[in-house]
Amino acid sequence: MSDGKLAGKVALVTGSSSGIGQGIAVRMAKDGADIVINYSGRIEGAQETQRQVEALGRKSTIVQADISKVADCQSLVNAGWDALGKVDILVNNAGVEKGADFWDVTEADYDLVLGVNLKGPYFTTQAFVQRLLKANLPGRVINISSVHEDMVFPHFSTYCASKGGIRMLMRDLAVELGPKNITVNNIAPGAIITPINKGLMQDHAKLDPLLRNIPLGRMGTVDDVAAMASFLASDDAGYVTGSTYVVDGGLMRNYHEQ
Ligand code: BGC
Repeated sequence: MSDGKLAGKVALVTGSSSGIGQGIAVRMAKDGADIVINYSGRIEGAQETQRQVEALGRKSTIVQADISKVADCQSLVNAGWDALGKVDILVNNAGVEKGADFWDVTEADYDLVLGVNLKGPYFTTQAFVQRLLKANLPGRVINISSVHEDMVFPHFSTYCASKGGIRMLMRDLAVELGPKNITVNNIAPGAIITPINKGLMQDHAKLDPLLRNIPLGRMGTVDDVAAMASFLASDDAGYVTGSTYVVDGGLMRNYHEQ
């Protein structure tokens, strides 16, 4: 067993085939955890995560699931739990965003964004909690939210609705699950270098003013976010529940609309 701060733990990270989820999976493996890797559409990304996790000497399993479907949330948790013997840490990371003027938003886009970003974490957490209660084990739930759980993002109303929802879900569950020794926290990343921001990073008309709004003067990296996730999953954070931890280079304190 590793002697890292997550030694002996198993973490399930949704959407760990790319971006922040992949970074968290690898960081938690570095810190000693075995990893349930999840992808929805691109197995190659999940296999790359697995390669990195196993190169660190950790065990892993890959489970395909579209978390916008409740049955998939349940089979993800159950398959991951059964493959690695338990799950201690759930990271609800998978997320999508669709930009559109409010008056043009379609039902399909609404269902996609709310399905992946809010319904998915809701029912994945429910399946996780059901297993924890049955096994009488403590647990950690970490939701990868966004600065936009609090801060406006015009033309991304579905995204804001989903992230605002996950802020209140986290607060509510922290109170309901605290007596079961399950902690629930959010991480609110700002502008991070990931596939979700591919368009932004090529569009200097949008990127340059954004960078001017970030007091630390740069976009964040997946490692910046993964370090916070690993801390919240560790014993050091045993008394931490019910809050959002912002990892945004100061953006939230210094945001101006164009
Ligand atoms: C969004 C990015 C955006 C960032 C800062 C994130 O939650 O996914 O598209 O650049 O917030 O506004």
